[in-house]
Amino acid sequence: MAVTRRPPTKAELRRQQMSAAVNYPLDWLEERSGLVGGIRYFLFRKVPADTNWMQTLGSASLTAFIVQAVTGVILAMYYHPSPNDAYNSIQNITDHVTMGWLVRGMHKWGASVFIILMFLHMGRVFLFGAYKYPRELNWIIGVLLLLMGMLEGFTGYLLPWDQTAYWATVVGINLNGTAPFVGPWLAQWLRSGQEIGPDTLSRFYSLHMLVIPGAIIALITLHLYLVVRLGVTSPPWSKEAAGTLPDPEPRPPRRGLTHEPATGSGGKD
Ligand code: HEM
Repeated sequence: MAVTRRPPTKAELRRQQMSAAVNYPLDWLEERSGLVGGIRYFLFRKVPADTNWMQTLGSASLTAFIVQAVTGVILAMYYHPSPNDAYNSIQNITDHVTMGWLVRGMHKWGASVFIILMFLHMGRVFLFGAYKYPRELNWIIGVLLLLMGMLEGFTGYLLPWDQTAYWATVVGINLNGTAPFVGPWLAQWLRSGQEIGPDTLSRFYSLHMLVIPGAIIALITLHLYLVVRLGVTSPPWSKEAAGTLPDPEPRPPRRGLTHEPATGSGGKD
């Protein structure tokens, strides 16, 4: 007997139109790049069932970095990287630019938060033994990220160009200068000459604004790629530590967000 379907109601029709309007740009992008499926895979991939709060410290470090990047871009719109103007431009940001005090405060304190979170994340990785095979490379990338994070703090400290900034940089550069063999060369390079002066400020500004953030973004991309590729480690007390039990259900093949799910198999639709 032929099944007669009732015509869709007005509300159903509107929902269909809405969903087509939302899906069209996503479909367009997915067909040409596969990006939507990739993001969906990244966000909804499987992690061990007993993953816990300590495993959110990596994402917390990422969030802190994003806050630094956004507040840094806003500060850069008002900061003048020259010895005559740097100090005044920072005073202007704090006292006159709308919410400037807040953005500057977030950037200044956020720098410490970023470093502390990276150390906590590193501690978690160490305690869980997550640095062992096959994640050694991700540990090495993490060490580079930590180094870059600290260099970002060091180069940013000079930018207000006040007494604290100047003398802290003198101490930092002198410390580097004591390193065996490369020390004197490194100190000279950081100072961009024999004395700390206008060229040092330009050098630190370029490192702080372009070189180090670029390196951090590239390293984070590589770091996250490896996290997704290798999967997240189970806690050491886990009964189902990764690799000890076979996957009971093999994963369904990867599907793009915009593809209609197959219907008619389970009768649950
Ligand atoms: C900008 C700094 C960093 C960001 C944004 C970041 C981000 C992340 C994220 C999101 C994860 C997956 C979730 C998690 O385990 O928390 C992860 C895992 C990992 N991170 Fe980091 N991380 C950073 C720095 C570091 C540092 C400093 C180290 C060590 C020196 C490190 C080593 C690792 C390792 C080995 C894993 C794999 C852990 C596992 O499989 O359980 N990361 N990272």
